[in-house]
Amino acid sequence: MSADLGFVHRYLPGEDEAGPTLLLLHGTGGNEEDLIPLGQTLAPGAAVLSPRGKVSEYGAPRFFRRLAEGVFDHEDLLFRTHELAGFVESAAEEYGFDRSKLVAVGYSNGANIAASTLFLHPGLLRAAVLFRAMVPFEPEVTPDLSGLPVFLAAGRMDRMIPPDNTQRLADILAEAGAEVDLRWRNIGHPLTYEEVAEAKEWLSRMLPTLSEAQGNG
Ligand code: MLT
Repeated sequence: MSADLGFVHRYLPGEDEAGPTLLLLHGTGGNEEDLIPLGQTLAPGAAVLSPRGKVSEYGAPRFFRRLAEGVFDHEDLLFRTHELAGFVESAAEEYGFDRSKLVAVGYSNGANIAASTLFLHPGLLRAAVLFRAMVPFEPEVTPDLSGLPVFLAAGRMDRMIPPDNTQRLADILAEAGAEVDLRWRNIGHPLTYEEVAEAKEWLSRMLPTLSEAQGNG
């Protein structure tokens, strides 16, 4: 069991101390164990930091409250996003990973809080892989995400995440300067092997560039 730091979580060191760390953010009803195999598939040898969402929806862990499916409790979302960012900072100190090489990998609810983190703490993440993401909230001030690589994988037949909502998220991120790679498939909400393979290929091109660029804060 890892140190507490305010979140139940797992931390697995990477092969290379100076290498990237994946921040794994599970979907509704998941936990800190769920995405570890996905993270190890996506970036073998990378460190992983995997917290469990602190909100319980009838016993199902989530990263923030929702009022109905796709209708978010804005106040809680803001609070939880700052709380998660604080946890990441504390974890970087505790475990000594390189905070400037932190890459979020989120699925569904986890992808949504990752997007919220990009909006509210634009310097925290160096890249993001968002599976089945939607707009967490419309930012009042456009964050500066210049050059930040974001991979989005979406399903045209996803009944939980309306396609135009994912498209809107991609547009907001692009307006903020992010380098968005949005991939559509004729699939629903569950993740498929094909898109995991695509994300892995994308990461294998993107991760080596992290050591060349400076973190933006
Ligand atoms: C959310 O609540 O974040 C979205 O509806 C997606 C989900 O939880 O699966």
